[in-house]
Parts: sequence; structure tokens; C-alpha cells
Amino acid sequence: MARERATFADRHPGSRAAYQRSDHLFGRVPMTWMNKTAGDFPVYLATARGNRIVDVDGNEFVDFALGDTGAMAGHSPAPVVAAVTERVQRGLATMMPTEDAAVAGAELARRFGLPAWSFALTATDANRWAIRLLRAVTGRPKILVNSYCYHGSVDESLIVVGPDGRGASREGNVGAPVDVTLTSRVAEFNDLEGLERELAHGDVAAVLMEPALTNIGIVLPDDGYLAGVRELTRRHGTYLINDETHTFSAGPGGATAFWGLEPDVLTIGKAIGGGVPVGAYGLSAELADALSGRGDLDLVDMGGVGGTLAGNPVSMAATRATLQEVLTDAAFATMIETASAFADGLIRIIEGYGLPWSVSRLGARVEYRFASPAPRNGTESAATANAELEDFLHLYLANRGVLLTPFHNMALMCPETSLADVARHHEIFDAALKELT
Ligand SMILES: Cc1ncc(COP(=O)(O)O)c(C=O)c1O
Repeated sequence: MARERATFADRHPGSRAAYQRSDHLFGRVPMTWMNKTAGDFPVYLATARGNRIVDVDGNEFVDFALGDTGAMAGHSPAPVVAAVTERVQRGLATMMPTEDAAVAGAELARRFGLPAWSFALTATDANRWAIRLLRAVTGRPKILVNSYCYHGSVDESLIVVGPDGRGASREGNVGAPVDVTLTSRVAEFNDLEGLERELAHGDVAAVLMEPALTNIGIVLPDDGYLAGVRELTRRHGTYLINDETHTFSAGPGGATAFWGLEPDVLTIGKAIGGGVPVGAYGLSAELADALSGRGDLDLVDMGGVGGTLAGNPVSMAATRATLQEVLTDAAFATMIETASAFADGLIRIIEGYGLPWSVSRLGARVEYRFASPAPRNGTESAATANAELEDFLHLYLANRGVLLTPFHNMALMCPETSLADVARHHEIFDAALKELT
């Protein structure tokens, strides 16, 4: 690790100097999570295009992090650049709709099966607003999530199953407004019994979940689990929100189309804007009608749902271009084929060294965990984390020109990711394991 840290420092003098010059940034970075890096300082961006990044020192990387899905469409995809460039010159913050939004909404409806769409600037906000709407419709106070989920900085989601089996605040939860057990319930992923026990209290407005966990490694659903969730939520009068922000990697209609799911609300963000900030939520016809009929809810002014720049012309132009021209059915087919090759190669290398690790894939997204068989829920998966080993592998790869997502061992494919890029990752990964073992 010391050798790799020294190599990193040698390769990145410009990034280190930029970090040292950032006295007036809290934590020296524009956002504190940018300090999540295996080196001693972050790498500073010069340019990014497709699946290549060049840093301020001129180092080139094959990028499998892809902005933790924000750039699943590739960096600066040409149709998005063209649409945004054209739009930027004709007004940015006018508070008026543009027709791109309706086209984007129709495309989201076609892909995900929900008819009524609204836009935010982040997936976090899409989740927050969906939660508010479902509390309003049901009159119920609580939201249920899976242990070790991630849905953005949503207060209600920062709950885990504690050692005694009951809900507890997630470690490190910053400034919770109230005890999270007052607003939330929690069940393990793949645990229908636990879910039923919690829903039986009759106070859960909505289950907010990813169809596969993607933020604590990839945890895939057991056969029948997602159908069971739908059946139980319906039986208990609880709405179901599928957060497809990451599981969109499963295909053009995300996990919802891939597994034939029927959520009441679908939230998404990141990739649909091709890198431009956007979030969105889609509502069922029944919910849209129920909400439209509620004269007591202020959906227009200060009722707690909305943002001045939400639905802005640039985000809408970018979303339209991304969905219509970049993350197409054909692009997904290529990305998924590449990801399959990535996963197959990874399994071969890991098996070659006899390591008890597992590989999971969800469409264009691949991840390995330091456990085999693959963990079946968030708590099990969290227990397999090994920060030192992860940092070593990330740094080893970064020093040889390959980036994984900084938060875990995730590799994502964009339309430009080639089999040669996969081979390059695997060659370096193999060398790292050879040294380690
Ligand atoms: C499943 C899921 N939902 C929501 C979010 C929040 O997205 P954003 O940070 O763009 O608000 C994330 C971010 O990683 C996510 O993984």
C-alpha cells in the first residue's frame, strides 16, 4: 500500500497542488464525499469523453466508475452536448416549460410503464417528493426501506436493522431531525417475513426500495421476492416506490421492465440526464388522479414539493437527448454484452486464485464482494466490507490507468466501453491478485 501511495503521489503532482490550494473549500473539495479516494487526495479532472478521463497531470484513465452512474451514457455524449449547447444559448432559468419535457416524459412512460411524470434536479429530491406525496395520499406517517439501502440524503432512509433485529439509526447519520424510528421502518432485502411483520403495523405509507440493492455491493433478489413485495404492499394498503437510479443498468426500462415489476411510483435520476443534473418520478394513473383531486395539497407553491430550477430547459433538453439518442435499446444491448464479458472474466480470475469472492451483475453493472456465495441482504453484504483491501485494489488499478467507482468495487459499462477496455482491467486486476496472494 505504501508503494502504491507513493506511485499515486508521483503520478499526480498537479492534483495534489490543486488540493493544497483549496483552503476555502470545506474539506478542500466542492462536496465532502469527493474526499472518498484511495490516494491521499482526489484526482482533478481535465477532460472526459466516452469512457476516458484525462486528469490535470495528463494521466489517462479507462473509466468504469462513470460518475457512479451519472455518466452511464458515457462522458459528454455528442447528442447531449449538441442539445445542451443549443439550449444554453436560448434561456436558462425562465420558469417556463419547454416541449422537451413532454417528450422526455413520454419516453419515460414508454420505458417504465407509469403514465405521469414530474422532474427534480436529483434522485434524492425525486425520492423526497415521492415520499411526501404518498404520505399525503395515505395519511400514514412511515416509510419502509431495506437495511443498508441508499436513496440519496433522504432522512427516512437512514435506518438499518440493528443487532437486536429492530430498526436503528444508520451509523454516522448526520443531524437527523428526529429519531429515525419515528419516520421509518426497515426490513432486510430478500426477507418477506420481516417485511410483512413491519407492514402489519398499518402505518407505512410506502416501501421505498431498489429492485436490487446496488449501494452495498449488488444484492440480487431471490426468485419470487419482488412479486412477494408487491403482493404484501398491496395487501397492506402500502404504496411501492421503485428507485431505479442505479438499477436502470438492467436495461432500457430498468429493472422494472426487465423483471416485469408494477410499482406505483418510480424514481430515477443521474444517467437519464447524460451527466446534466436531473431527477424524475413517475406516478400511476390512480395516484396522479388522487393527487390532482386534492385541493388541500399545495402542489404549486410552498407545500413542500418542488424546486425553482426543477424541470429547467437544460435538464429537459439533456434528458430528451439521452433517452432518445444515447441510452437506446441498441446501446443497452452492447453495454450488457460488455458487462457479461467483464463478469465472466472476473469470475475466471478470482477462481484462478481460489479466492472466496463473488461476482454479481445487473445488466451493465458488475460488482465483486469479498464473500462467497454472494450476500443475500444489506447487513450480510456490509459485514463483508474490507476497506483496506478495497483501497489497495482501487489504487493499484488507478496507478495503472483504470478507475472503479470510489464507493465500492463496481464497474459500469457505457456505450463506448470496449472488450479491450475490459481486458485491460482484467490484466491489471490479475496482476494485483498475483501480488496479494
Ligand atoms: C438508488 C439511489 N437513489 C438515489 C440516489 C441519489 O442520487 P443523487 O445523489 O443524484 O441525488 C442514489 C445515489 O447514489 C442512489 O444510488
